[in-house]
Amino acid sequence: MKRLGVNIDHVATLRNARGEKHPDPFYASKFVTKHGADSVTIHLREDRRHINDFDAKKICSQKKLLVNLEISMNSEIVKKALSISPNFICLVPENRKEITTEGGLNLKANKKKLKTIIQKFKKKKIRTSLFIDANVNDILISKELDVDCIEIHTGKLANLVKSKKNFKSELQRIKKSAILANKLGIEVHAGHGLDYKSTQLLTKINEIKEFNIGHFIVGEALFFSFSKVIKKFKKIIKKK
Ligand code: PXP
Repeated sequence: MKRLGVNIDHVATLRNARGEKHPDPFYASKFVTKHGADSVTIHLREDRRHINDFDAKKICSQKKLLVNLEISMNSEIVKKALSISPNFICLVPENRKEITTEGGLNLKANKKKLKTIIQKFKKKKIRTSLFIDANVNDILISKELDVDCIEIHTGKLANLVKSKKNFKSELQRIKKSAILANKLGIEVHAGHGLDYKSTQLLTKINEIKEFNIGHFIVGEALFFSFSKVIKKFKKIIKKK
């Protein structure tokens, strides 16, 4: 069964625009779970532009929620994540000037550092995932690093679909990577830039077990509510 993780970072973005307490990401984490999200994703960025330490701690302390905490390899953030102890960790690249996570991790350049970090989370029995681009080399390095899951960056596919360009070879590249990772015993997730159409295309890849979607869900929920949007995504990902 494919799962839907809902990224609620942009509830915090909206709250921070006013510098007050509403809308509350903690409330949002419980709300999206009540309305069908299989897990909640939050990204504790080094610049704290949306989710802050207090949010992360409070959301991860909820026993009834499954929380996927996205973090960079920064040692202070890793330390913080170890103390917060979420259910899942997803390691992502981070660049201060980016608007959003622009690509996958550079596994080759960070192999040693990643190995140490992954082992720390493994010791705490935290399911750990690497956010990577869809390519064979990175899948092989992920296997060497003994990580539980990979999340394939779907930004390029999503942009091609949105701009009505030919997406076939990108979809094929993702499929090939997903099949290889699955063969190697790594669970495959997908995320970034996804909307109804790009998600629908990816559901045809059986090896993808989890979708992590944020910006589109929060934006669409302004018009149709979280409950309707989550229901629609769940219907899409359950269908083959
Ligand atoms: N997955 C990962 C690893 C991400 O970094 C992000 C963006 O924070 C997402 C999924 C969600 O992307 P979007 O907000 O574009 O749906």
